Amino acid sequence: MSKSFGKIIATARYLPEKIVTNDDLAEWMDTSDEWIQSRTGIKQRHIAEVENTSDMCGQVAKKLVEKAAIDPMSLDFIIVATMSPDYTSPSVACQVQGQIGAAQAMAFDIAAACAGFVYALATAENFIRSGMQRGIIIGGEKTSKLVDWQDRSSAVLFGDGAAGVLLEAAEEPSIVKQMLRADGKQAKALTAGFHANKNIFHEEPKTDTALAMDGRGIWNFALNEVTKSLKEFVDDEAIDYYLLHQANKRIIEKIARKMGEPIEKFPMNLMKYGNTSAASIPILLDELVETNRLSLNGGQKIVLTGYGGGLAWGNLLIQL
Ligand code: ACO
Repeated sequence: MSKSFGKIIATARYLPEKIVTNDDLAEWMDTSDEWIQSRTGIKQRHIAEVENTSDMCGQVAKKLVEKAAIDPMSLDFIIVATMSPDYTSPSVACQVQGQIGAAQAMAFDIAAACAGFVYALATAENFIRSGMQRGIIIGGEKTSKLVDWQDRSSAVLFGDGAAGVLLEAAEEPSIVKQMLRADGKQAKALTAGFHANKNIFHEEPKTDTALAMDGRGIWNFALNEVTKSLKEFVDDEAIDYYLLHQANKRIIEKIARKMGEPIEKFPMNLMKYGNTSAASIPILLDELVETNRLSLNGGQKIVLTGYGGGLAWGNLLIQL
């Protein structure tokens, strides 16, 4: 039998050392631990001081190669999902490729904000189905460089980090089903890193490049479109765990209720990390594997659901 389906054979994460609690933020911002926890569930977040996105993603790639005990030269691709790359060019993925010496791997980034990891893993699966053998998929973000630290309504929500998986060709399908969606008409609901027009022929007034989010708009989108697509996607399938994008505890609790599923099936770690955008789902996946709630060969059925800026969203059904 030919090996033409992707299987996750290793997971890894990297969180920068510095932890910033809600009380730390309240020292120089008009906010409180009570407000942040009651509205979002977040208690603290990690903030990268010296590391940029490529450094964190490079650490994840090194761990994956070590855990899977593979030669980096055997990698066919490296895909990084990020909305906070070091540069517009080179891509973070190319930097990671250089860091780990994966000279045979093609490398590129995917920009789909908090849906980025789901988009990237779905893309990787399609490369494996078309003949590639092995690759790395990472979600990595340094959103701390995008947020406006004077804007309490968004600065308190986000955190930095990176995580990913190593995907290898196998005989049986593991990523069983995928559904990717976007709605560009709502593009302005979350914007960050605007590139101002700086050419000499056309002057524009100075434009704000910081992250701006219509929190209520995204809240409604998560509880309507995202939940509707998840329901359609899952249909009657029995699911062991739903790994939802970790943005807000209240959103996850409401989605669990709308799905008619017990909250225990919706693991959360946003209390510790805040919203790490494209990194949130793989960080959670790695923690669940590390604590043996999930086993990479355990046959459990999990759904990964990412949603956010774009607007973009997507679901993957994986049988481990
Ligand atoms: N501390 C104290 N008060 C605050 C803070 C803060 N950090 N932030 C806002 N407030 C105040 C506001 O000024 C407002 O005060 P007012 O009533 O006097 O005007 C009040 O709190 C309520 O503000 P809202 O914005 O209405 O608060 P809400 O209950 O909607 O919660 C939140 C905001 C947490 C952002 C919520 O809307 C949310 O979670 N939205 C979804 C975000 C999401 O899921 N994003 C995922 C995508 S991210 C990506 O793609 C990168």
